[in-house]
Amino acid sequence: PRKIVLDCDPGLDDAVAIMLAQGNPDVELLAVTTVGGNQSLEKVTRNALGVGSLAGVTAPVAAGADSPLLEPAQDAGHVHGESGLGGVDTPESTIELDTRHAVEVIVDTVMCEEPGTVTLVPVGPLTNIALAVRREPRIVERVAEVVLMGGAIRVGNQSPVAEFNIACDPEAAQIVFSAGWRVTMVGLDLTHQAQATEEVFARIAEVGGPVADLTLGMLSFYRDSYRSSGRLDHPPLHDPCAVAYAVDPDVMTTRRAPISVELTGTLTRGMTVADLRLPADESCPTQVAEQLDVDRFWNLVLDALHRVAAA
Ligand code: BDR
Ligand code: CA
Repeated sequence: PRKIVLDCDPGLDDAVAIMLAQGNPDVELLAVTTVGGNQSLEKVTRNALGVGSLAGVTAPVAAGADSPLLEPAQDAGHVHGESGLGGVDTPESTIELDTRHAVEVIVDTVMCEEPGTVTLVPVGPLTNIALAVRREPRIVERVAEVVLMGGAIRVGNQSPVAEFNIACDPEAAQIVFSAGWRVTMVGLDLTHQAQATEEVFARIAEVGGPVADLTLGMLSFYRDSYRSSGRLDHPPLHDPCAVAYAVDPDVMTTRRAPISVELTGTLTRGMTVADLRLPADESCPTQVAEQLDVDRFWNLVLDALHRVAAA
């Protein structure tokens, strides 16, 4: 199985990412760590514990950074609601929060496992991952790879050119992109192909029970957010795309390219700049996700939801 550390800020799509990671039979979920992003650290951690309990997560859950490296935290309450989960109730948590800081859990996990076996999957602002690199630089050569949800080549969402996770903490993102480890950027160009259509809603309803109730409740709120802001008719499940690639790389195509984060632009701070002028050298460690196999993706998600519901 693929050993994964999921660093998240649940968050409606993060919640589905947790269920995908827990429910996929080829994933060994080593830890779930949280970072302030979509909502405050306190809220996203409570959400991770609640969703994790429903999904049957047994891996440690640990809370990390409450704010970005340099700037004050900004949330996405307008998309994910005041609670971060669109007002949907999760069951009382049966998981006890790990007493360690998320950065410690990330470092410990990577350093304790066999070299080259752990995949980091950050789907929130990159603060915890950057802090982990600073704290224990040896994790860079020890992880298998980093598969992150964030960034955009064409159009942003937090600004015309910047995506939310990167825009929240551009300095952290630049540390992660430039560390030298393999990074796959699963950005908006890819994730906007993962739209939860009416057909997807119907397939989720077939799962039944509390898992379907929670997921449909969250996705309905998410759909309303996207519709009322005039952005998309069907909400894109950004974060599960990164988990999907980590476990099944054939679910999308990628293109190798150097990627840097704009840190100083007055209009472009937080933009991910990929150099697509020429085919990148074999040695280039970063790549951009391009084309999603939409059916394969939803089959992975639905299969995981069924397994979580049956467990
Ligand atoms: C990203 O921002 C967050 O609101 C989502 O959870 C996702 O990680 C999409 O831009
Ligand atoms: Ca997220």
